[in-house]
Amino acid sequence: MDKAFWDQKYSVDEYVYTTEVNRFVKEHLSDLPPGKMIDLAGGEGRNTIFFAERGWQVENVDLSSVGLEKCQKLAAERKVSDLVFTTNASALDFDSKLAPVDLGLCAYLQIPQNDLAVALGLLVADIKQGGVFFGVWHALENLKDGFGGPQNPEVLPSEESMAEILAELPLSVQFITNRDGQVQTKEGLKPSITLTVMAIKL
Ligand SMILES: C[S@@+](CC[C@H](N)C(=O)[O-])C[C@H]1O[C@@H](n2cnc3c(N)ncnc32)[C@H](O)[C@@H]1O
Repeated sequence: MDKAFWDQKYSVDEYVYTTEVNRFVKEHLSDLPPGKMIDLAGGEGRNTIFFAERGWQVENVDLSSVGLEKCQKLAAERKVSDLVFTTNASALDFDSKLAPVDLGLCAYLQIPQNDLAVALGLLVADIKQGGVFFGVWHALENLKDGFGGPQNPEVLPSEESMAEILAELPLSVQFITNRDGQVQTKEGLKPSITLTVMAIKL
């Protein structure tokens, strides 16, 4: 899925992934004191804006210029434009404007394992010692036991494949855990399985 795919997906008036922060991001990161952060593959900015509204300086790095324009529009509406920075680049090759940061967030960057290892390596390199890395993905197990999300197993990490990636990085892993949840569909609530990861930069 390349830039053209994401630009086209985001070329609608509504926010494809809503303007609501991801529930696992909210659950685990709401209490962090504000600082600087990177929202890697932040798209239309639902998580970026959540943090900016809490005083964080946030850099949203994403392949899609259309997604980033919607992020800036939302930032203006919420009056946090001065705290929101956008970098239109690949997660596999980006230079952060804000690094070193206190928090590196990566939500639903569903790319092949080798590419994900490169992207997370770059993100973690931009986090200060003692800073937090948090990630969330549609899990591999969602293919069989959950609803929606990508159907290509190559872009769906498991607890095991994520542990392999993180073992190569300077991190103290707090948890790599699949979480059960539910998504609303036209046919009612369906199960979903989400991989959540939290670690501290060494
Ligand atoms: C499922 S969306 C998630 C967006 C956002 N993190 C959220 O949770 O709402 C995936 C995002 O990854 C971005 N993306 C995909 N491949 C990328 C890459 N190689 N580099 C940077 N961004 C990428 C897309 O443009 C899209 O915004």
